[in-house]
Amino acid sequence: VIRRMSSQPKVYVTRPDVDDSGLELLRKSCQVNIWHETSPVPRSELIREVAGKDAIYCALTDTVNKEVLDAAGPQLKCVATISVGYDHIDVEECKKRGIRVGFTPDVLTDATAELTLALLLATNRRLFEANKQVYNGGWKSWAPMWMCGQGLKGSRVGLLGFGRIGQEIAARIVPFKPSEITYTTRSPRPEEAAAVNARHVDFDEMLRKSDFIVVCCALTPETKEIFNAAAFQKMKSNCILINTARGGVVDQKALYEALKSNRILAAGLDVTTPEPLPLDDPLLKLDNVVILPHIGSADIETRKEMSRITARNILAALAGEKMEAEVKL
Ligand code: DGY
Repeated sequence: VIRRMSSQPKVYVTRPDVDDSGLELLRKSCQVNIWHETSPVPRSELIREVAGKDAIYCALTDTVNKEVLDAAGPQLKCVATISVGYDHIDVEECKKRGIRVGFTPDVLTDATAELTLALLLATNRRLFEANKQVYNGGWKSWAPMWMCGQGLKGSRVGLLGFGRIGQEIAARIVPFKPSEITYTTRSPRPEEAAAVNARHVDFDEMLRKSDFIVVCCALTPETKEIFNAAAFQKMKSNCILINTARGGVVDQKALYEALKSNRILAAGLDVTTPEPLPLDDPLLKLDNVVILPHIGSADIETRKEMSRITARNILAALAGEKMEAEVKL
């Protein structure tokens, strides 16, 4: 047994709370070490634990940079994250070292699109604000103009990003009868756009003309804080910003100013900087913002499958085979 254990590849898992079905897959042929608390693994522990491992099973709560890769050592073959986003992994550094990177696209597309619509509707129809009135005595009687929001029907919706998730969001917006859906990407995607009758526009046009803007792009150096003070300045005063991508796409101070001064109408955020948002963050004092704790893909079956895909990515990489979902480096 001892000989078998030592010849098995070693995997470090940074979360004990991923679905067990993924961990079971790994345990069949690997020696698996798992961080034991449901809070993110402390940096010093991560650095210590990755030493000598062949693969790291991580989440977006772990920054996997040069320091971690150095600590792991040259035998490290794979970093697999239980997320579609991989901005927390230094992929350039992985590429240099021949380390393969796994992620979990596709499986979470529908769950994330669904949550995006839920957040959009909660924000534009002021669901949380209205719900509070039921409990705090604010609901005195039906009143004609009370708790009115801005409907999607007849509105112009702009998507920043038009990948898998953006396309599914667009498909779910269509039945709400917007006047137009536009999308902003580096290069147009006419085929996918035709399916939802979306038009490609540049970022400036999206800012100036949209009644709703939905952020569904990856966080990259180009999109980092692309929603800054100058961008908010260009937006229509009735614009509602929805972000289910990454908090880093938005300059949050500028967003706060834009919401507080009614430069824009409202925002719905499933992602913030930092996460969790501190309880004294000024955004939490505003009525015109809905904030969720990064639950875009938090659908039970989705998260279970994400756990298994992450494990299968690792097993494939360790066997030198094609991974189910590998980041192109
Ligand atoms: C992701 O996968 O990147 C989401 O943010 C969490 O599921």
